Amino acid sequence: MRILVVGSGGREHALVWKIAQSRLVDKIFCAPGNGGIAQQAECLDIKADDIPALVEFARREKIALTVIGPEAPLAAGIVDAFQAYSMPVFGPDRRAAQLEASKVFAKELMRTYNVPTAAFEIFDTAAAAARYIEKRGAPCVVKADGLAAGKGVVVAQTVDEARQAVAAMMQEKVFGEAGNRVIIEECLQGQEASILVMTDSVEVIPLVSSQDHKRIFDDDRGPNTGGMGAYSPAPIVTPALFDEIMETIVYRILDGLAREGITYRGILYAGIMITGDGPKTLEFNVRFGDPETEAIIPRMKSDLVEAMLAVSEGTLRKVARSGGLKWDPRACVCVVCASGGYPGEYEKGKVITGLDQVAGMQDIMVFHSGTARIPSDPSAQNIVTAGGRVLGVTGLGNTIREAIRTTYAAVDKIHFDGMQARRDIGKKAL
Ligand code: AMP
Ligand code: GLY
Repeated sequence: MRILVVGSGGREHALVWKIAQSRLVDKIFCAPGNGGIAQQAECLDIKADDIPALVEFARREKIALTVIGPEAPLAAGIVDAFQAYSMPVFGPDRRAAQLEASKVFAKELMRTYNVPTAAFEIFDTAAAAARYIEKRGAPCVVKADGLAAGKGVVVAQTVDEARQAVAAMMQEKVFGEAGNRVIIEECLQGQEASILVMTDSVEVIPLVSSQDHKRIFDDDRGPNTGGMGAYSPAPIVTPALFDEIMETIVYRILDGLAREGITYRGILYAGIMITGDGPKTLEFNVRFGDPETEAIIPRMKSDLVEAMLAVSEGTLRKVARSGGLKWDPRACVCVVCASGGYPGEYEKGKVITGLDQVAGMQDIMVFHSGTARIPSDPSAQNIVTAGGRVLGVTGLGNTIREAIRTTYAAVDKIHFDGMQARRDIGKKAL
């Protein structure tokens, strides 16, 4: 069968890499893809949010399953558009995607269905938000309601910082409409973990746990990024804690959605803070995480396409009955190599060297995030940087320590002008 993957990051490369291993698959397309994805899939000149063009392509090419990577097309209703033509698609529909697309929606649902999360208030004017900040003091967390490409959360250490965040979101409209409402919430302390589950709204199959590293510099310093690395499993999530997260967070929110008449199909991602007072929800995402996916997918032994088809058909129970998803017990570490200057401004077009050396290394996978091939290069050997996050160098090991060692041995072979990579990915797990 023919599969279409929508998106262009490291997450989509990991998905394409895994889908390519399925016995069910003959050909993979990716829209728009990147320089690394092009090795396993035919990349299309269609943007991830061009829903009519994607629907048209899938119909014309008789695509058996379309897998949606990023949140923006999900929030815009790409799944509804595919379903209107009865075409198999993996991901939640527009109503279900509100869980990520509107933090107000998600927080209200958590309140209604008693899902543990930071205490919060919702504001639709900057003046009221500022008064509240004055009254409650710092630290606090200011969140734009809508999608803001991962930049809509400010953990404010001072009242001034919080007020500035509100002004930027609600008055300067730095995120456009996404800042029409803001949430101000309690600042939680603890370690973070990501719990992803696959569901067709009846059956729920958890994936293995993971942990992201959001800050740009070692020891969690500097500004937030899209994610500088990840590892799986996250040993902080003990079996007892995992069960507690499933019971109090995952099942409760899915149950809440069902009671609201919303059918959730796809990946549900719960971002958790493990506080002294138990696990609390930081956010829900309605898709695979990036870079968590790069650390999770290499551990998956089951056929991903079979499971995704089952989700889209509502027959995930069959997969559950045959033992659920199977996992490699080894640990996986993904280190992101980013452009100099990221998450601020950065230059593109830097030639990447060392990829050929790393290609032969055992238990190493390099997932491309922001790369391109040089079209004028006839051998198409030269890959250049084309984004902030450039590569996710990923390695497996019998222990986290071993996976860290293997992965950094590969990272050390890769170079491009200005490259930055954290040196402490996975350290928290030791
Ligand atoms: P989110 O996009 O909601 O996951 O927020 C991005 C990051 O901000 C999270 O991964 C946390 O590191 C941090 N964060 C969000 N909400 C809170 C909170 N209530 N307390 C402390 N940190 C938070
Ligand atoms: N790694 C965080 C995210 O995918 O949103």
